[in-house]
Amino acid sequence: MPESALSLETALSELEARARERIAAAAEPEELEAVRVEALGRKGTLAQISRQLAGLPAAERARIGRLLNSVKQELEQRLAARQAEFEQRALEARLEAEWLDLTRPAPGPRRGSLHPITQLQREIEDLFVSLGFTVLDGPEVETEYHNFDALNIPPDHPARDVQDTFWLEDGHLLRTHTSPVQVRGMERLRPPLRMIAPGRVFRNEEVDASHEHTFYQLEGMMIDREVSIAHLVYFMKTLLNHVFRREASVRLRPGYFPFVEPGFELDLECLVCGGRGCPVCKQSGWVEMLGCGLVHPNVLRTSGIDPRQWMGFAFGLGLTRLAMMRYGLDDIRLMQSGDLRFLRQF
Ligand code: PHE
Repeated sequence: MPESALSLETALSELEARARERIAAAAEPEELEAVRVEALGRKGTLAQISRQLAGLPAAERARIGRLLNSVKQELEQRLAARQAEFEQRALEARLEAEWLDLTRPAPGPRRGSLHPITQLQREIEDLFVSLGFTVLDGPEVETEYHNFDALNIPPDHPARDVQDTFWLEDGHLLRTHTSPVQVRGMERLRPPLRMIAPGRVFRNEEVDASHEHTFYQLEGMMIDREVSIAHLVYFMKTLLNHVFRREASVRLRPGYFPFVEPGFELDLECLVCGGRGCPVCKQSGWVEMLGCGLVHPNVLRTSGIDPRQWMGFAFGLGLTRLAMMRYGLDDIRLMQSGDLRFLRQF
């Protein structure tokens, strides 16, 4: 066997052995590619060996040529197999990374919650219902009669001032308090009666941290044969203790409301600042929480109730203020903002 045929044969088997080893050891597709280029590429080892075939005698050339082809095929198969293996592995990794469990239940819509004022309103309604009160509703667009006249508010009273009241062109108005529902209650229910009426009220006010043109009140009224200030104080304390779940600090001041006599204003020690002074209490440490008093005889008489036989107390609670106190809110404007970041906290 001629020298050169032998050396080519050796070169082929060395190439085969080395390439096999590298193909088997390749850790990445790039390594396979490097082996392919070096062994099978146009300028690769196999190509060099193949060029040397020309110098061999015909029989040797055919034999080495076949050998060369089988080495080439063998290496190509091994490369392809490893290549497929890498592709399979990459696919599996991707499937694993992008795995989605389509049977998993969707997160579902975020649940809403009741507005803090609504929550408070319902609690107070439940309390008063348990004390024998009826919950009444009244219109937000009111007559001058129900909002003022029937409540013994004289025509020249400052509360009627255009600055406070939103008047409609047809002579109606947006109720400035829930007290007109007292009148509607007396019209509907005959004494003895116990009613509350939560609702939205409107005043033409400059808006700031503690004033809104739209806010909520809760009216209460009790009419019976013998009703005293002691009853009134009892119900107010029961109400506030229930809302704050502790003894609330309050102070009672004489207050003037044409529809009660005597009339009082009940202040609550500011819970936002603990009485030290903040924007909510206008730095006073106290927040005006409700007006109350014994129902003025004129009010009873106007609604057809004989003040010689019946008497009563009434109160009008600032529900929005109360909610601010309970939740420690220092800006009333948040209440009507519709801001979900605010609302989701309740
Ligand atoms: N209606 C009064 C107000 O809005 C509150 C009040 C109600 C006072 C009932 C006394 C009795 O300020």
